[in-house]
Amino acid sequence: VSRRQFLTAALAPGLLGACSSLRIGTGELSSAEGALEEWITKQRTLSIQHLLNNTSPAVTFQRDVEARFIAPDRQEIVRSAASAPEARVQLEGNRIRQQIVPRAGSVTAAPPGTPSEPDYFFHWVRDSALVMHALATLCAAGSSAQIAVYDERIADFIRFSRTLQTSAAPEGLGEVRFNMDGTQDFLLWNRPQFDGPALRALALMHYQRIRGDHLPEAIHATLHEVVQADLDYIVLNSSRPGFDLWEELKGYDFHARAVQAAALHAGARRALSTGASERANAYEEASRQLQAAMQDHWLEEKGYYGFFAGRTVDLQNVEQTKPGENLDTAVLMAAVHGRMTDGRYSLLDDRILATAVRLEDFFAERYGLNRRRASNEGIVYGRYQGDTYYGGNPWVFITATVAEACYRLAELVARGASLPVTSRSQSFIERALRRAGAALPAGEGERGLSDSDLRRLPRGLILRGDDILRAMQRWSSNSGALPEQYDQESGAPASAANLSWSHAALLAATDARTAALANLNPNESPRSVLRTRL
Ligand code: NOJ
Ligand code: NOJ
Repeated sequence: VSRRQFLTAALAPGLLGACSSLRIGTGELSSAEGALEEWITKQRTLSIQHLLNNTSPAVTFQRDVEARFIAPDRQEIVRSAASAPEARVQLEGNRIRQQIVPRAGSVTAAPPGTPSEPDYFFHWVRDSALVMHALATLCAAGSSAQIAVYDERIADFIRFSRTLQTSAAPEGLGEVRFNMDGTQDFLLWNRPQFDGPALRALALMHYQRIRGDHLPEAIHATLHEVVQADLDYIVLNSSRPGFDLWEELKGYDFHARAVQAAALHAGARRALSTGASERANAYEEASRQLQAAMQDHWLEEKGYYGFFAGRTVDLQNVEQTKPGENLDTAVLMAAVHGRMTDGRYSLLDDRILATAVRLEDFFAERYGLNRRRASNEGIVYGRYQGDTYYGGNPWVFITATVAEACYRLAELVARGASLPVTSRSQSFIERALRRAGAALPAGEGERGLSDSDLRRLPRGLILRGDDILRAMQRWSSNSGALPEQYDQESGAPASAANLSWSHAALLAATDARTAALANLNPNESPRSVLRTRL
């Protein structure tokens, strides 16, 4: 039976609905893999649709909030917006009303929701960059008709981004988010945040690698301006403390630093290739300095990377401590977002893997959903211990990004990256090998894996990623909407009901899964294991 025939058989809905495991010949074949792939295919189609709906959305949005939510130092922005001809902002008593007509290239973090949801109808620099990264990846494998659609959205995004970069944003490129019509956000918010420019530069460099040869000259030129402005900004601002990606505390956070270091490193290579060697040197040097500063995040006695290093303060500049002993899934996400393929702060860093194990153990116990999960399901992940935002639940994009970490590491190892066993990486590697049916040989100190374990490891990692996706599959809805959070007891959607970043992360994880599978030795692929048993 060929693989195609197997998949077709396994995907027949009647068959899947009727039984939880198939018995074929002598081997027992779980239907879970076929069911997972079927869900992935369906969910990807819906996620792409949701993302396209959320870029340049065709809705007019009315915001109506109390005037006390205006940032004190942005009153002037409101006044001049309200007095402009054809003003779309009105101050009436203690309320402020805004009419927002989105511009081409804007990406909303979420579509307008019900009053119980947070108001996410803004173009966040961070969220929109991750959305564009996912759309860019789709260009690598799409049909020409599909690519034309993505190219257009990305071109609009590039132009919109340049407009924002050159706008009068009070925080400059550290501005966190904009109104969807490109005007300045004047609400009280935790600013500045510094991961946005790095994520945007990484997304656009990724797009350029995929589509560079096909882009019209004008788009190429604007892309270049956006990337260069982002990277130059990072060089000048990388030693300033900013609010973290959870928009809560101001300080030096691992995620912002890691994506900045990664963007500068990739930017240096890009600059070199165009002969801009002075810039390349400046970028590489700033990247090195960031990486050196990041040593401070390692907490030797705890055995993981602390999310913040040094002092953290809130908006009022009052000193605050990160709850949960500073253990945060954003550390692992940083290694994924940075896409460094070797060295410290990449997924091959044994300290990152030690942190991943701590996170897994913590969240496995933390949520009812995880404590009661099925035996073939991985866990869902939240932000950190002590999180209270909408109840401190597991988050969809965090969970998807942990799955992506498994797939990306699988691909790196399958392509020959070295991953020594150390006291720090040992538990992580042991769990992946166990998932592939093998045990980690006993030993002391730093050591290499045997050839056969090196071949099993990517398979175990892919299966661990699949376990996580299976948990997501369980809590997914037929509409394909992906919320920000899953209620930790019921699995029901919580906070924003349909978050762009959740869709982007689902696409990124499943693209990484495809790449990991494509790099497996045919004898080691999970699919071929199933096939040979038929
Ligand atoms: C606190 C939350 O933790 C953070 O993630 C969110 O962005 C802000 N509040 C604003 O809603
Ligand atoms: C809250 C998250 O903490 C932040 O990272 C994100 O940018 C916004 N929501 C919008 O999705």
